[in-house]
Amino acid sequence: MSSESERGPVGIIGGTGLTTLAGLKITGEEARSTSWGEPSAPLVQGRLGHQSVVFLSRHGNPHRIQPHQVNYRANIQALYDAGVRTVVGVNAVGGIHPDMGPAHIVVPDQIIDYTWGRGSTFFEGDLEETTHIDFTWPYDADARAILIAAATARGLPFSDFGVYAATQGPRLETAAEIRRLERDGCDLVGMTGMPEAVLAAELGMRYVCLALVVNWAAGKSDHIITMEEIEAAIEPGMSGVKGILEASMAE
Ligand code: HPA
Repeated sequence: MSSESERGPVGIIGGTGLTTLAGLKITGEEARSTSWGEPSAPLVQGRLGHQSVVFLSRHGNPHRIQPHQVNYRANIQALYDAGVRTVVGVNAVGGIHPDMGPAHIVVPDQIIDYTWGRGSTFFEGDLEETTHIDFTWPYDADARAILIAAATARGLPFSDFGVYAATQGPRLETAAEIRRLERDGCDLVGMTGMPEAVLAAELGMRYVCLALVVNWAAGKSDHIITMEEIEAAIEPGMSGVKGILEASMAE
């Protein structure tokens, strides 16, 4: 994923279905506190292939923190404080694009933020100046290329493009909301892509998203969405995601 001496450990933020990372050779665990509060879980340090990695479970371990209640600022700040400068955010998502059905893996290239009321910037309070970071390309091009190469080499069903719609949750969307997202140009929908990506950008970190489709988005299949359907898709799909992470860390 990166030259370790230059870039330090890679941070992996695991979402639904990835609260632990089996292939990780754990070397330590650290409960960190930040000026933004507590991250979702202790940081787990270890090695994946040749790469040193810091793993953080976005929803806590066990999985208990709702998407709109994750302290994204504390999570990103804690990773930064641990020396992480490259972050892979793993997200379970619903598929909107006709090629992006359950089990499909996507390395998106764009994001639209529909979330509200989340702590979504580090630039807050009594500051000396205003700052407007560039966010034209929310995902790091080099990190995307590495994930895409790893997915290609493993022959997994995946797409190297996609616009991620970040919705508020925790409820799923209505069929009309999904049609609107589609008109907006969105290919995937999930609840955790933002503000994680922008917070990493504000700290000058490289950020990339690795998304696993676990259901057709609302109205895109002939049935309603059930948790059973999502859970059934997560386990087999996450093995592909883990394979990509392992292969990309061998770079
Ligand atoms: N919508 C929003 N978030 C999701 C979905 C969805 O259909 N599936 C998994 N996360």
